[in-house]
Amino acid sequence: MNLPHPQEFLTLQEVVAAARANLAPGPWSYLVGGAETETTVRRNRQALDSLAFRPRVLRDVSRIDFSGIFFQKKTRLPVMLAPIGGLESFVEGGAAAAARAAAEFGVPQMLSSVCQPGLEETAAAAQTLRSFQLYVRGDDAWVDDWVRRAKDNGFVAFCLTVDVALYSRRERDLVGRFVKPWRARAAEGAGFQAALSWGQVKRFKDKHDLPLILKGIATAEDAQLAVEHGVEVVYVSNHGGRQLDHGLGAAAVLPEIIAAVKGKAEVWVDGGFMRGTDVVKAVALGARTVGIGRLACLGLAAAGVPGLVRTLELLEEEVRTCLGLLGAASWAELTPAHLAAAPPVSAPDTFSAFPLLP
Ligand SMILES: Cc1cc2nc3c(=O)[nH]c(=O)nc-3n(C[C@H](O)[C@H](O)[C@H](O)COP(=O)(O)O)c2cc1C
Repeated sequence: MNLPHPQEFLTLQEVVAAARANLAPGPWSYLVGGAETETTVRRNRQALDSLAFRPRVLRDVSRIDFSGIFFQKKTRLPVMLAPIGGLESFVEGGAAAAARAAAEFGVPQMLSSVCQPGLEETAAAAQTLRSFQLYVRGDDAWVDDWVRRAKDNGFVAFCLTVDVALYSRRERDLVGRFVKPWRARAAEGAGFQAALSWGQVKRFKDKHDLPLILKGIATAEDAQLAVEHGVEVVYVSNHGGRQLDHGLGAAAVLPEIIAAVKGKAEVWVDGGFMRGTDVVKAVALGARTVGIGRLACLGLAAAGVPGLVRTLELLEEEVRTCLGLLGAASWAELTPAHLAAAPPVSAPDTFSAFPLLP
C-alpha cells in the first residue's frame, strides 16, 4: 500500500499501515497481541463481524446528530480513548499526546495509572473531559490518595480495572523477549490486585463521591453486583483480549449485561472496535460510550497527535455514513432491530476490519 502524508489519510487502513511501518517489532507485538492463543482477541472481532445491519429508508437523514454524552457533557462522538499503559512506547509525549488529540477532536480520555507522563502532567497538557483508571496496587490509603489527586486535577470519574487479578501470559511478548521498559513499575503491588474484592468497591462508594466505573465486567452476574454496589458505569471489557484467554467477544456479552443492568447504570464497552460501523453496533445494542484502545494507539503511532485526530475524523465520517444509510438521524433512533446475526465473511482477527492491509 502506498502511504500518503499522514494529514492525507483517506482511510483507517492507511492509518494502520503507517503505524505498522513506524513501530519496532517489540512495541508492535505488545500493541496488537493478546493472551496465550489470542482467542479472546479474535472473538472480539468475531462478535462484531457476526452482526449485520437492517437498514431503514426514507427517513430524512439530511441532518444527523452523532454526538455523545459523557457525565452530562456533550462530546463529538460517543467514543472515548480507552486507558493504555505505556503509551509513551508508541508516541512521543505518551499520555499527554493522547490528551491533546482528545481535546482537539472532542472526545474524553481515560488516563491509565501506568502511563507516562503522570496524572498531573497529563491533566496540564490539555483541557479535555477525562476520567482516571487505576490498577489497585496499594492499600486503601494509597487508593484514596489517587482519588484525591484525580479530583484535584479535574478528572470527572474514577475507574477501577477489575479483570487483572493476575497478569496474563502474553505470548508475543514472551516469544519476542520484549521487556516493557516500565516492567518494574507494573509489577509492584501485584498482591493487592489479586486480593481485590467487592468489599473494596463498597468501601470506595461509601468514602468517595467521584462517580465509579468498573472496567472489565464480562457477565450479567457481575453487572448485577456492580449495580447493587451503586457503581455509576459498568464498563464491559475483556481488556482487548489481553487478560483471560478463551473469553467471549465483548459485543457478544453486551446484550446480557444491558438486560441485567436495566438502565440503573451506564454501560460502556470496548474490545475490537475499529470502525464507525462497530461503534454504531455497540450503541444499537445499548452501550452509551465505546472505548477505543488499539485504534487510538495506531493513530498515535501513525502520526502523533495529528494522526490520532485524523483517525477520529475518519471514524466520525464512517459513523455518519453508517447512521445515514441506516435511516437514523440520531442515536435515539437506533435500536437492536437495526441489527441481525450473520456469519462473518472472513476469519475474524484484529485486522479483519482492514482487508486492504498487505
Ligand atoms: C497497549 C495496551 C495497553 C493497555 N493498558 C491498559 C491499562 O493500563 N489499563 C486498562 O484498564 N486497560 C488497558 N488496556 C486495555 C484497554 O483499555 C482496552 O480495554 C482494550 O484495548 C480495548 O480493546 P481494543 O484494543 O481492541 O480497542 C490496554 C490495551 C492495550 C492495547
